[in-house]
Amino acid sequence: MTAPRAAAIWRHRLAIEGEAAGHFGWLAGRFAAAGDHDLAARAQQAAADERDHAARCQAVIAALGGDPTPPAAAPLPALGPTARPAADRALYAAVAVGCVTESLSCALLLALRAVATHPQVVATLDAIARDEIAHARLGWAALARAAARADVGWLGAHVDAMRAAAVADEVAAVAGDDALAELGVLPRAEAAAVVSATWATVIVPGLARHGVIAGAASAPAARAAAGR
Ligand SMILES: [Fe+2]
Ligand SMILES: [Fe+2]
Repeated sequence: MTAPRAAAIWRHRLAIEGEAAGHFGWLAGRFAAAGDHDLAARAQQAAADERDHAARCQAVIAALGGDPTPPAAAPLPALGPTARPAADRALYAAVAVGCVTESLSCALLLALRAVATHPQVVATLDAIARDEIAHARLGWAALARAAARADVGWLGAHVDAMRAAAVADEVAAVAGDDALAELGVLPRAEAAAVVSATWATVIVPGLARHGVIAGAASAPAARAAAGR
C-alpha cells in the first residue's frame, strides 16, 4: 500500500507550507516597517500562496486516503542571530527562506514533476512550482537590495546552517523510497543529487555574486563551463 505512506509524507509538506506562510507574513511586516513596500507586497503575496499550497496539499492527502486535518500550528521559529539588528534578521530570513529553501524547493518540485503520474498530484506540483519560483526571486531581490546598501558578508558564517536546516526540514522529511515517486514523493537518492546540483550551480554562485560568500570556489567551474 503506497497511498497511506505517500499521504503521511504529504502531511509533512502541509506542515512546511504552513510554516512558510508564517515566515513570509513575518517578512512582509519587516519589509513594510523598513519602508520597502515592493518587497512587502511580494512577501504578502507569498504568504497567501503558501496558504493556497497548504489547501492543495490537504486535497492531495484526502485523495490519497489520509487525514487532511492541518497539524496544530507550532510557534514560528525565529530566524537569524538574535544579537543582530532587526533588519539583519529580516535579511537572514529572506536568504534562508527565499534564496536557499525556495531555490532548492523549485529544483526538487521540477524533478518530482518529471516522475509523478497521479493526475491530482501532478496538477498540484505544477501549481506549487509556479509560485515557488516567485518566492525564490523574492529572496534574491531582497539580498540584492541589501547588498547594494551594505556589506552582507556576515551572512557567510550562517550559510552552512541554512543549508542544513533546509535539507533536514524540507528535503529529508519529504523524500522517500522509489515506490512513492508516482504519488509525489521524490526518491531519496534523487533528492540528494538535486540538492547538490542546485547548491553548486544556483545557490553558491548567487550568494557569491552578492558577496555573502567568497566566489573562488565556483569560479573554476564557471570558467570551465565557459570554455576558458
Ligand atoms: Fe509552498
Ligand atoms: Fe514558497
